[in-house]
Order: sequence, then structure tokens, then C-alpha cells
Amino acid sequence: MTIIVTGGAGFIGSNFIFHMLKKYRDYRIICLDKLTYAGNLSTLKDVMDNPHFRFVKADICDRNAVEKLFEEEKPNIVVNFAAESHVDRSIETPEIFLQTNIIGTAVLMDTCRKYGIQRYHQVSTDEVYGDLPLDRPDLFFTETTPLHTSSPYSSSKAGADLLVLAYYRTYGLPVTISRCSNNYGPYHFPEKLIPLMIANALNDKPLPVYGEGINVRDWLYVEDHCKAIDLIIHNGNVGEVYNVGGHNEMRNIDIVKLICKELGKSESLITFVKDRKGHDMRYAIDPTKIHQELGWLPETKFQDGIKKTIRWYLENRQWWEEIVSGEYRNYYEKMYGNR
Ligand code: NAD
Ligand code: TYD
Repeated sequence: MTIIVTGGAGFIGSNFIFHMLKKYRDYRIICLDKLTYAGNLSTLKDVMDNPHFRFVKADICDRNAVEKLFEEEKPNIVVNFAAESHVDRSIETPEIFLQTNIIGTAVLMDTCRKYGIQRYHQVSTDEVYGDLPLDRPDLFFTETTPLHTSSPYSSSKAGADLLVLAYYRTYGLPVTISRCSNNYGPYHFPEKLIPLMIANALNDKPLPVYGEGINVRDWLYVEDHCKAIDLIIHNGNVGEVYNVGGHNEMRNIDIVKLICKELGKSESLITFVKDRKGHDMRYAIDPTKIHQELGWLPETKFQDGIKKTIRWYLENRQWWEEIVSGEYRNYYEKMYGNR
């Protein structure tokens, strides 16, 4: 079995590669990644010498490069993680999100059609459903909830999802889609809430909470997401969407306070800053379908997962310190300087 994993030098894609290489010793895993600001080759250093692994630097929008790789590797499965993934960046510069997230998805699927494929899996997000009101805790996103996006990021992901379903209906391409809630864990880029707060707290820097910090996200440990995708590509039904989430809703402010507590830092570091434009209030996944059809259940409780994650950031300072001391500093100044 040969699997192309696009975006495998990023947060979730790298964790997926580690999971697959460990579990399926005879699979060949090829990572195709453009190495944007979010992709880190150092993340993959432990698997670079693995004879079952190959890394290829390429853009999923580059049709020639993608076709060349398919020609060489004849993959059975493609799992597409490659994306521009940060909502705040999408508010600043939407175009690259449309390019990578929509056009890139089309190029990958065209190539799958040309060379034939057992499965094309699209890694999507619960953000395609928009948000839920805070005063209706009885409501959850199901796979039939209408797409109703808020940000350029989520709109580009929804556009890609629609295209994936269109390739299934029009061309019969064997596709599946997973829509997961917020992930956390090792190798999470420190521009996202949890790693940013851990890194800032460790450096005794202000902890910038948007608005009042009452927005709710449904957090899932990254390994549980990887296991869900593993199940879907092997046992999921073609043409289907699967929601992935662990019923773990938390307010941002409570996460930040928990990180302060775990690190022994004062809550006085918390700084309320200007809210994100169009800020989604609450995400909450109903994972009944993937549980009933594929037997998936999250295994890591948030209390354990957050401790493991904090320990990882403490033990792997070099990984994130290189990021926060490089080009990322300009981003941070631009986004948070006048907030
Ligand atoms: P990430 O930003 O950490 O990594 C994205 C990776 O894609 C990077 O390695 C980057 O170099 C690569 N990439 C970007 N543009 C590319 C291009 N044009 N060609 C090839 N590679 C390119 O993202 P992540 O958090 O790991 O998210 C992975 C996927 O999962 C995304 O599709 C995202 O929408 C989805 N998702 C993320 C979350 C989350 O909480 N992080 C939740 C649900 C779904
Ligand atoms: P983020 O990690 O960017 O994920 P997403 O917006 O895709 O859910 O943000 C998670 C939540 O944390 C979101 O409600 C915005 C908020 N947030 C802050 O309050 N401060 C920050 O510096 C960041 C990056 C996010």
C-alpha cells in the first residue's frame, strides 16, 4: 500500500505520518509538502531515514510536480492535509487560501482521476458549518448541518469539500471527507491558541485572549484525529462525510487559565485584546456517525492530553523556539502589535 500524505510537514499531517509508519510497517508513506511557513522539515527528522518513507517538496497546485510524483509512486491512497490553516491569516490575505485550499484540492483530484486511485481523502474542518450560539448547548454539528461559513479560511475549506463531493458524483472518484474539531498536541504551530499560550507563558509574555475569551471550541487530541482518518480511509464508505470530535467543549479563557495553572504562571499575564473579525462563537461536533459506523471513540481525555502537550513543549523547546525567534516574529508584531 502506498499513501501520499500532502501537508505532512505540518501539525496534523506529521502526527498522521508517525501513526501510519508505526502501525503499518509494510506501507510506503510519501509526504508531499511545499514547506510554507507552517511546514517544518525538522518535524519529520525521526522518519527521514525510514526506508518506507519519502519526502518530496512540492506545491499541490503544481500540476506537473503532482503528476510526476503519481507517475513515480502509483499511490493507492491520497490523504490531503495540505492547506493554509490559520483563520487570522485568512482575514489578512484570503487569496492564498483559495489557491491552496481549493485549486490545490482540484489539482490533486484531477491527478487521482488521471492515474486511478483507491481512495482520495479530504481532511476538512468543523468550521465549514459556521458557528453555534452559546445559549443553545443542545445544538451540535451533524454531517447534514448546512455549510454556513464565517471566515475566508472556512469558506475555502467548504469550497474544497463541495468540489470533492462533485468529483464523486460527476466522475465517480472514490472520495471521503472528515470534518474534525480543533486539534491540539505535539508539533502544533505556535500561532494557534494552545501552543501560542504555552510558548508565551513560558517566556513570561502577555497571553492575548480575543474579546472576552468566552468563545467555545471542541478540543480533540491530535492522535485521536489521526486514528479516525486511518479508520475512514480503510473502512469508511465512499462518498461519505464523517464528523470527528470528542465532546470536549471549552471556553478559550478557561484553556488559558488551565495552561497558567499547569505551568505555575500568574493569570495576570492574561491580556484581553481586540476581538477577531467575524469570530465564531461555538463549535461542537456530533460524532455519532463515525462512532456507530466505524467504532471510533476518542481515547485521550483533555485533562491528560493537555498535560502531555505541555510536557512536549517543555521537552522540545528548540522546535518551537526556532519558530518564534525567526520570521514568525514579524507576523507576531503585525498581528498583535496594535491589538
Ligand atoms: P498546518 O498549517 O500545521 O500545516 C499545513 C501543512 O501544509 C504545512 O506543512 C504546509 O507547508 C503545507 N502546505 C501549505 N500549502 C501547501 C501547498 N500549496 N502545497 C503543499 N503543501 C502545502 O495545518 P494543520 O493544523 O496540520 O491542518 C492540516 C489540515 O487539517 C488542514 O487541511 C486543516 O484545514 C485541517 N484541520 C485542522 C484542524 C486543527 O485544529 N489544526 C482541525 C480540523 C481540520
Ligand atoms: P485558533 O487556534 O486560531 O483556532 P480556530 O480559530 O481555527 O478555532 O483559535 C482558537 C480560539 O482561540 C479562537 O476562538 C480564537 C482564540 N484565540 C485567542 O483568543 N487568542 C489568540 O492569540 C489566538 C491565536 C486565538
